[in-house]
Amino acid sequence: MAFIVDLRSDTVTKPTKSMMHAMVNSALGDDVFGEDPTVNALESKVATLLGKQAALFVPSGTMANLIAIMVHCNKRGSEAIVGNLSHIFKYEQGGAAHVAGVLLSTIQNKPDGTFDLQELESKIRGSDIHEAITSLIAIENTHNVCGGKVLPIQWIDDLAELCKKHNILLHMDGARLLNASTYLEVPAERIVRGCDSVSLCFSKGLSAPAGSALVGSYHFIKQARRARKMLGGGMRQAGVLAAPCAVALDDAALALDHRRARVLADVIHGLFLKTFSVDVEGQRTNIVLVRISENSPLNADQVLQRLAQICLAETQGSCKTTNDEGVIVKAICFNEKTLRFTLHREIQDEELWLAIMKITYVFKELDAAHPVKS
Ligand SMILES: Cc1ncc(COP(=O)(O)O)c(C=O)c1O
Repeated sequence: MAFIVDLRSDTVTKPTKSMMHAMVNSALGDDVFGEDPTVNALESKVATLLGKQAALFVPSGTMANLIAIMVHCNKRGSEAIVGNLSHIFKYEQGGAAHVAGVLLSTIQNKPDGTFDLQELESKIRGSDIHEAITSLIAIENTHNVCGGKVLPIQWIDDLAELCKKHNILLHMDGARLLNASTYLEVPAERIVRGCDSVSLCFSKGLSAPAGSALVGSYHFIKQARRARKMLGGGMRQAGVLAAPCAVALDDAALALDHRRARVLADVIHGLFLKTFSVDVEGQRTNIVLVRISENSPLNADQVLQRLAQICLAETQGSCKTTNDEGVIVKAICFNEKTLRFTLHREIQDEELWLAIMKITYVFKELDAAHPVKS
């Protein structure tokens, strides 16, 4: 038998007992008629939390981002500018083009998840008859591919100013916005003050079973509600899903995930191996990126495969549970040389230490067996 520590994503979290209790005991109605009291209460709660006029409960973060693009770019021939490492660009199937008929243009993300504002300004277009019309800028906070980085508030404010100057709207993919708010110890409402819309996921570190909110002005949300229905996201007695989301907001414990991620990052850094490195200075929230040296013959897939195997020597030594089970660690590959480990509510101290034992064992073994070429 193996003990599995699943660090692939904070989306693997399961609803807590109080979430299950809320699911069973909440008042329900038909949300497409606007009559589900639990959904309505959640929407008001999120709108207040983010300091905006209104919110809409949607099935997923992907749908929230797509609706934001559809509504903000409702003139044909519109373009949205997004980071080249953004979830919207990399992992949403180009839904903006596919479904909304919107051109996505990219700007290069810096390692901290931001991009250069002067470069952005030079990309804004639409005055020339040959060009698409830039209607929207979308940012991501925290930034997933950049390793859970938190966007500086001043940078967001400066960007918002720039958008206003050019009459362009600003959307934040805030799937992990509350991680940013927790890290900065600043209310989420302050972070998103300059944004016209924000999406926020309940089913990542917050650990509700499903759902996201899209937040903005009354007018924006009215249009977003129409778009949600068209996309098939009108969910009738959706209170069963909204109830655990409200609990998730009240019971969020993201600082613990950040602390555990920091411990994991520090331990890997402290191994001082040539093959594996972690940017401990840049460590911010619940995501730990491990880079494999460009001069190593190893790739991220091989490392994942080894983390999923248990060899006899491990269980004969101390790399096992108190029940003598070997340990498997799951993570994901971001690219050939980058692994992502994500901390979340299912990973308490015991799981963390088992993961650290296993990762330490495997990293040392691979570093010795596949030396980095100098
Ligand atoms: C930054 C970011 N935005 C959006 C999403 C999409 O969320 P969903 O999986 O709910 O569609 C994800 C999912 O991992 C994400 O990491």
